[in-house]
Amino acid sequence: MKIGSVLLAAIATLVIAGAAHASGQDLFEQHCAVCHQMNGEGVPGAYPPLADSVGAYVRIPAGRAYLVHVVSFGMTGAIAAHAQSYDGLMQPWTQFSDAEVAEILNYVLTGFNRKLLPRGFKPYTAAEVAKLRSHRESFEQVHRERAHLLSALDGLGMPLSPETAITAGNLACDSSTSGLARDLIARTRVFGALDTLDNLKKGGRIGNAKALLATALSIKPIISVIDGVVEQYGKQRTRSKALTFLVEQVASIAWGDPSCRDVIKLRRKA
Ligand code: HEC
Repeated sequence: MKIGSVLLAAIATLVIAGAAHASGQDLFEQHCAVCHQMNGEGVPGAYPPLADSVGAYVRIPAGRAYLVHVVSFGMTGAIAAHAQSYDGLMQPWTQFSDAEVAEILNYVLTGFNRKLLPRGFKPYTAAEVAKLRSHRESFEQVHRERAHLLSALDGLGMPLSPETAITAGNLACDSSTSGLARDLIARTRVFGALDTLDNLKKGGRIGNAKALLATALSIKPIISVIDGVVEQYGKQRTRSKALTFLVEQVASIAWGDPSCRDVIKLRRKA
């Protein structure tokens, strides 16, 4: 064989290898853009947007799995995205290799979803895709998976689009934090039992005779802070009764709130 034909064969192999390894962008433009559009914006009411949308999904592992599943196994059933509803069919793309699915998704994510990607986002690898699509799912299973994913993200307070991300950011700085503070103030109660009336007597809050009598009877006043003012809330004979009373007050207020179970346990022990 002459050197020229060897070179020609080498170039031909290179060209074939090049064609076999299309980039994520090429694959997207050839196969997906017809519906989801070149810029990933979709067609309102017909084909859902992928831009500024699916990037929010990969913040949790379930979302990484879902994206591989929807592309590999397809999906049908009503969905909503960017306040539009869709009820079409996303076909399964079984012809793509693991590496190709990884590249298409990486293109969709880094090309159209930069603002939503989690910090330290790791692109898909062929190995991850292979693992995630080793068990085939039906269209309906993928549809349910999407619903679970969205409610999980919602539960974590993770916004699904950059606009809501900005609104949520503003909210976190003003109304929601001050709302939270107001809510906490409204729900905060402070109780105390005084061991001695000496300080009240010194402060002129009670007269000498009353203080003397109280001490003799071992009366422990219970105080509470109501709207920032210290008020007498009750009185108990003996220190241990005063403490039990305090625990009961806290428990009765906390009753019904599961996060307060420890207080209630404390009450049972007391
Ligand atoms: C023939 C039109 C069509 C083509 C081509 C198509 N899709 Fe879809 N795709 C849809 C429809 C319709 C849905 C919504 C299905 C539903 O309503 O349940 C969808 C849903 C999706 C979703 C889920 C979006 C979400 O918010 O959960 C992703 C991701 C997706 N497609 C990616 C792709 C990729 C990647 C390609 C190319 C490999 C592609 N699609 C090709 C029509 C298409």
